[in-house]
Amino acid sequence: MASIVLGVSGGIASYKAAELLRLLTESGHSVRVVPTESSLHFVGAATWEALSGQPVQVGVFQNVEEVPHVRIGQSADLVLVAPATANTLAKAAHGLADDLLTNTLLTARCPVMFAPAMHTEMWENAATQANVETLRSRGHVVLEPAVGRLTGVDTGKGRLPAPAEIYAAAVNVLAGREQDLMGRRVVVSAGGTREFLDPVRYLGNRSSGRQGFALAEAAVARGASVTVVAANVSLPRPAGVDVVDVVSTEQLREQMHLAAADADAVVMAAAPADFRPAEFVDAKIKKTADGVAPQIHLVENPDILVELVAARTSKRPVIVGFAAETGDATASVIEHARAKLARKGCDLLVVNDVSAGKVFGQEDSEAVLLGADGSVTQFAHGPKSDLAHQVWDAVVQRLD
Ligand code: C5P
Repeated sequence: MASIVLGVSGGIASYKAAELLRLLTESGHSVRVVPTESSLHFVGAATWEALSGQPVQVGVFQNVEEVPHVRIGQSADLVLVAPATANTLAKAAHGLADDLLTNTLLTARCPVMFAPAMHTEMWENAATQANVETLRSRGHVVLEPAVGRLTGVDTGKGRLPAPAEIYAAAVNVLAGREQDLMGRRVVVSAGGTREFLDPVRYLGNRSSGRQGFALAEAAVARGASVTVVAANVSLPRPAGVDVVDVVSTEQLREQMHLAAADADAVVMAAAPADFRPAEFVDAKIKKTADGVAPQIHLVENPDILVELVAARTSKRPVIVGFAAETGDATASVIEHARAKLARKGCDLLVVNDVSAGKVFGQEDSEAVLLGADGSVTQFAHGPKSDLAHQVWDAVVQRLD
């Protein structure tokens, strides 16, 4: 089991670090908590000592004979700072070392991960954003804060992700995933769009968003900065991911174009509706006395994947499509998929055979990856998270 340093800096969210600590210790890891002085206003050292079973110190001038400012960082397998305040991020980015935590960050040779939490204004401040960029460019993992209720009545981006989510991200980092998407911006679409007929009825599909979220989690574990455009996904939000919620194909289209503009890779894992009702009726459509059902006229939606390929500029992000296929009398699953890859113009196409209820909403998936260069890779049957990593392996090969 790993030796983890849990740095706690001075934000109200430091109380959530107690739960994170429990998750880490209960799964067998040895955790040394290193709080900052200001964090002790929120959670006292006694809590950390009791929960971790290890001594707690803040400064570098106690137990000097043990040289803790060097030893703790040197012997760690992971340094995880949660919550990371704007101040701690700034100190880390600039290499300051005025307490035990910042000394530990300077001596750590292991992966370092920050889970920031602060008010939206502080997070969006150019100084904080520059510090985050710097830390990421050095190979550190900086999770995206969640959106939600902040300290007071205000809400916005800046909330500490849920302890279980930070824990999941930490486990990935500990698993030694290569940080081969570090410094890259990736965009993933997830879920299924809904096209409303009237205020209560819609045309939808069975996509759960599991594959899209697994792709997002895997990309975070490999160091990417990740945006997920999520169409009606009710799963827990993956930690460290910027999630943009949408409902309809038109909204998905708009948000994908915005997010993809400066992306290094785009994965269209969502299932946008191919058709939408030609008109939206403001009031609920009523049954008629004569029992005649209404006729619904459908129009075709734009193909977002095709548009994203067409909109590529000189930066040329790697673009990945998904195809849920069934074979038929005219051609096999792969033949249909090869034709689709050519039609869409993307670099890679993940082909799922969805005959007989396979894939949708399931934990596991099996797929074939077709490359525009003619390559064919058969993925082993396994969890969607494994498939996600295999997709990123193929994307990484094609970056630059
Ligand atoms: O043509 P088909 O729907 O099978 O293609 C699937 C791929 O195209 C997926 O990557 C899906 O996200 C994308 N798609 C799209 N816009 C649509 C329909 C599908 O981007 N309107």
